[in-house]
Amino acid sequence: MESIWSQSCQIEERDPMPGDIQTDVAIIGAGMTGILTAHRLQQAGIQAVVLEANRIASGQTRNTTAKITAQHGLIYHQLIKNFGVKKAEQYAMANANAVTEYRRIIDANAIDCDFEETSAYLYADSLEELQKEAAAAKQLGLCASVVEGAPAPIPAAGAIKMEQQAQFHPLKFLQAISRPLTIYENTSVQSVEGHFLVTNRGKVEAKKVVFACHFPFVNFPGLYFARMHQERSYVLALENAAAPEGMWIGAGGQWGPAYSLRRYKNLVLLGGESHRAGENPGGRYEALRQRAREWFPKGREVAHWSAQDCIPADHAPYIGRYAASQPNWYVATGFQKWGMTSAMVAAMILCDAICGKEHPCAGVFAPDRLVPQGVPQIAGEGGQAVKGLVKRIFQIPQEKAQELPVGHGGVVLLEGDKVGVYKDENGAIYAVDIRCPHLGCQLEWNPDELSWDCPCHGSRFDYRGRLISGPAQEDLNHA
Ligand code: FES
Repeated sequence: MESIWSQSCQIEERDPMPGDIQTDVAIIGAGMTGILTAHRLQQAGIQAVVLEANRIASGQTRNTTAKITAQHGLIYHQLIKNFGVKKAEQYAMANANAVTEYRRIIDANAIDCDFEETSAYLYADSLEELQKEAAAAKQLGLCASVVEGAPAPIPAAGAIKMEQQAQFHPLKFLQAISRPLTIYENTSVQSVEGHFLVTNRGKVEAKKVVFACHFPFVNFPGLYFARMHQERSYVLALENAAAPEGMWIGAGGQWGPAYSLRRYKNLVLLGGESHRAGENPGGRYEALRQRAREWFPKGREVAHWSAQDCIPADHAPYIGRYAASQPNWYVATGFQKWGMTSAMVAAMILCDAICGKEHPCAGVFAPDRLVPQGVPQIAGEGGQAVKGLVKRIFQIPQEKAQELPVGHGGVVLLEGDKVGVYKDENGAIYAVDIRCPHLGCQLEWNPDELSWDCPCHGSRFDYRGRLISGPAQEDLNHA
């Protein structure tokens, strides 16, 4: 099902790239990050084109809960520990400035996007933990205070309140801001070599390249696949539900539930049930619906959808130069659950970098920083596995197909090979090779969304084997 944003805003279509072009900056991806970066570059007088494989905002931007805030969970005392006070301050200030910058752009351009200033609350079972986090946030210059207790239905000992944060309708905003920009839709970048990009519509020669495509798909250099994983989460839109004022997020883990709440017009958006991509035995929507029944017994579901987020190893996004060996490539990824705010942070930092200036908050986000945790082994193992990937065609024998219940998918053993099989409601069988075309990990069946998901770096494919989201760039082999 589509998000309420998709249902209530259709962005005008754009033509594909008309053939080979040259430009100062080529931006890959027309989500919030790509569009905001192009917008800032245009304001700075720099020519930029945005190349989008599908439609504007067809990726994660349309699946967000659309909160604009520096309130990112129990993060600030951890950032001080990981990076030291100076860099943690950069993180806090960059996000606080992003909230202000959204407000400025919306006011300056009179954009009608249901922008609403409101407070952001982080709720938890432990007042002590909240006090510790609020003290860290205050030390970094944020205005945070602890309130005891929480309004119904939120079960918490208290919350950290940050005032003057915001929420909006992301597609209405994007529609307005993208109008004067050069954007080519249905133009899929297949490879990038130095200043040259190859697309399905022709070649691009660009002085600078920005990867704003959620998960950067060039594996070497950069090794982003080894430095982050992806998580999925789910959202219900409920009417006839009374939620408290403001935007709420739970601390999660040992500090209680991690559900997200915000209002949009007459609706309440309830989000949660996160898990690592590729690790879903099923029942996530049902678990969220159960929570909805407990918290909002009279609520009625009018929409549901899911989102996917990149989670970096040290909990700060990667924004800046892609890799030392490619000085004209830039990247913005690893936004965790804070895509809207981080997109603005990225646009500000990347625009400055492209203009030859060092943004004062850039240091903490620098992609070449040292990661405190060890690099996962998947880099080497995946690189090995990919060598064995070849085009394969599978035919599922009739007796094996009979065993599979209608509407179910799973892995079957076929002549020593593992094959992914799904039987639709009409009994039609779809069989796919479940080795991920990215780096060869085994895909897992996701029964809630009828997709094959990769537990390594989060690529997803529909039951027919068609690519939903990367870093993989190809469909699966299928029968
Ligand atoms: Fe990397 Fe699947 S192996 S996404």
